[in-house]
Amino acid sequence: MQELIEKYKQEVSSFKSSDVKEIEFFRIKFMSKNGVLNNLFNDFKKIEPEEKRKIGLLINDLKNCILSKIESLKIKPKEKSKVQKFDFTLPSSINKNGSLHPLTIVENKIIEIFKLIGFELQTGPEIEDDWHNFSALNMPDNHPARDMQDTFFLKKNPDLLLRTHTSSVQIRYMENNLPPIRIISPGRVFRNEDVSARSHCLFHQIEGLAIDENINFSDLKLIIQEFVNRLFGEEKKIRFRPSFFPFTEPSAEVDIYWGLKTETDKKITKGTGWLEIMGCGMVDPNVLKNVKIDNDKYSGYAFGMGIERIAMLLYQIDDIRLFYENDVRFLNQFRSSNII
Ligand code: DAH
Repeated sequence: MQELIEKYKQEVSSFKSSDVKEIEFFRIKFMSKNGVLNNLFNDFKKIEPEEKRKIGLLINDLKNCILSKIESLKIKPKEKSKVQKFDFTLPSSINKNGSLHPLTIVENKIIEIFKLIGFELQTGPEIEDDWHNFSALNMPDNHPARDMQDTFFLKKNPDLLLRTHTSSVQIRYMENNLPPIRIISPGRVFRNEDVSARSHCLFHQIEGLAIDENINFSDLKLIIQEFVNRLFGEEKKIRFRPSFFPFTEPSAEVDIYWGLKTETDKKITKGTGWLEIMGCGMVDPNVLKNVKIDNDKYSGYAFGMGIERIAMLLYQIDDIRLFYENDVRFLNQFRSSNII
């Protein structure tokens, strides 16, 4: 038996291979249930007691040789990773879809409604000159109404500034187009204001303008009520509150009755249940003159609303800053609303 063990030991120590199959055969030959090692252990039970110690040591030595040989033949980790790099049985990774930003969702909804009523989409530049942002809108130099909107000036004389409202697009459009006019114009506007839960230095507006013969205040009221019904999906009570804007005469602000059902309702309506959603009015004849439209023949109305404000109402959001922080926990909540 001693000889046999030594023969095996020879065989083990001289064995060399880098072939995975050969190595596996080697392992099976020596280590499997019916392999060399187990057979030797079985024979070991039958030998004379005085032989046991010596043979036992030899078998154990052979076993260690086999184990360290197998260990040394194992594929190096680098090669191993090459072989196992692709596991085609793994489930594929799921691409997470993004979602439209709530402001985009609301802007799209508003645009869609006005398009259905017959308004055309127009945009204008965010960097404006004094004429389009102020003067042509009946706010000449030193007009106190300029203080209503704190402005970011980019350059003085001639002035360049970040537009404070989308009303500037009215002027650009009327300068280049003849009535009848029906446009809406969404976009970003900028004001030098402190950032808080209710106001931001950057926000979004949608401007509306209709110029034609025989347009009067009741046309404006009709269109606004229709818009409110379509946006909020039900007959909401609205009221026109007399107000002042330099570019409209008469001017009004539109309030919507939101109610006082939730804590957020109370907070955003300051406990009144009413919330202002837009400014509007009949286009001031001076504005028409500035863009060379015959103000005896034509009249029109204009309106402007803040998209953030409408989005806050629709989604019960009580802090405007959430729109700009890009927190995915906030944004993910609007996935199912990507309707338009
Ligand atoms: N431009 C105004 C603002 O930024 C909003 C506005 C009010 C627009 C009345 C209008 C309007 O067209 O008629 O506060």
